[in-house]
Amino acid sequence: MKKKVFLSLILIMFLFLVVGCDVKKENVTPNKSTSSGFSAVIYFSATGTTKSIAERIAKASNSEIIEIIPKEKYTSADLDYNHDCRANREQNDSKSRPLIENTIDISKYDTIYLGYPIWWGTIPKIILTLIDTYDFTGKTIIPFCTSGSSGISGSVDDLRKYNSNLIINDGKRFSLSDSDEVIREFVGVNMNEEVKNIKAFINDNEYIINLEDNETAKKFIEFLPLELNMSELNGNEKYANLDKTLPENSANPGRINAGDMMLYGDDCLVIFYKSFDTTYSYTKIGHIDNLPDLGNENITVKFEN
Ligand SMILES: Cc1cc2nc3c(=O)[nH]c(=O)nc-3n(C[C@H](O)[C@H](O)[C@H](O)COP(=O)(O)O)c2cc1C
Repeated sequence: MKKKVFLSLILIMFLFLVVGCDVKKENVTPNKSTSSGFSAVIYFSATGTTKSIAERIAKASNSEIIEIIPKEKYTSADLDYNHDCRANREQNDSKSRPLIENTIDISKYDTIYLGYPIWWGTIPKIILTLIDTYDFTGKTIIPFCTSGSSGISGSVDDLRKYNSNLIINDGKRFSLSDSDEVIREFVGVNMNEEVKNIKAFINDNEYIINLEDNETAKKFIEFLPLELNMSELNGNEKYANLDKTLPENSANPGRINAGDMMLYGDDCLVIFYKSFDTTYSYTKIGHIDNLPDLGNENITVKFEN
């Protein structure tokens, strides 16, 4: 009897593990980085357009940025696609794998934003050199491209066909005119879900702000990077009016703790540097660890991811 119960328990645990794994798989969302690990933007750009988008994605996603540098640089003649040129010849040659000059260490990254220009509707062949050279097992690739007008989907299909083991999200095509909001949205779906803390720079010192899990904190992240001149008030707080409003859900906290970062009304950001009892109502955004007495002066605070 005891043996039967034991075997049933093992079976239940096994089923739980199997079902658990399936749920994990189904939850993979497009453009969502996979873990709390490092991410990198790795890009190839022949004339600088993709490079410019890559830099903005790296900044918005707090990723390291690595350029794929061709061993033989592409000249304008090489890119003159209306004539017989090197780029056209490479694209037409299924075996072409242009050499990469630099060594790229991808081992520490879970998520790779992979950027390239569209060449004849697809990825430039040097991207295949990258895929052939490095082990992308278990890493999530989030492609992005620039182009004259072509979309990204053909290139993503080709990448998936080229190596069916790659985990590749649907990706996105960008134009140079795309706003920071568009870039943040590309990386931000994920950030809003997972960012638990951000940084504040006050008087050249860096502090960590532990964010609340609420709509106000999530919206605040979208404003970053942000620099505010914050005015002194009452010997216990610094405040600044934002030029945009945040979602408000005020309540009286009873006590303010030194380091609390609050929203007063819907557009006034307050950092308290002393603890005291209060009768006022605020929406809590987060708490700054180890915040010292900030003194009587007005201060400048830089907030960053
Ligand atoms: C050989 C070659 C082929 C191209 N093919 C396409 C194409 O099929 N569709 C498109 O919209 N743009 C195409 N373009 C334009 C590039 O995708 C576009 O200019 C891109 O933004 C360049 O990025 P980069 O400055 O990072 O190199 C092509 C450019 C070259 C050089």
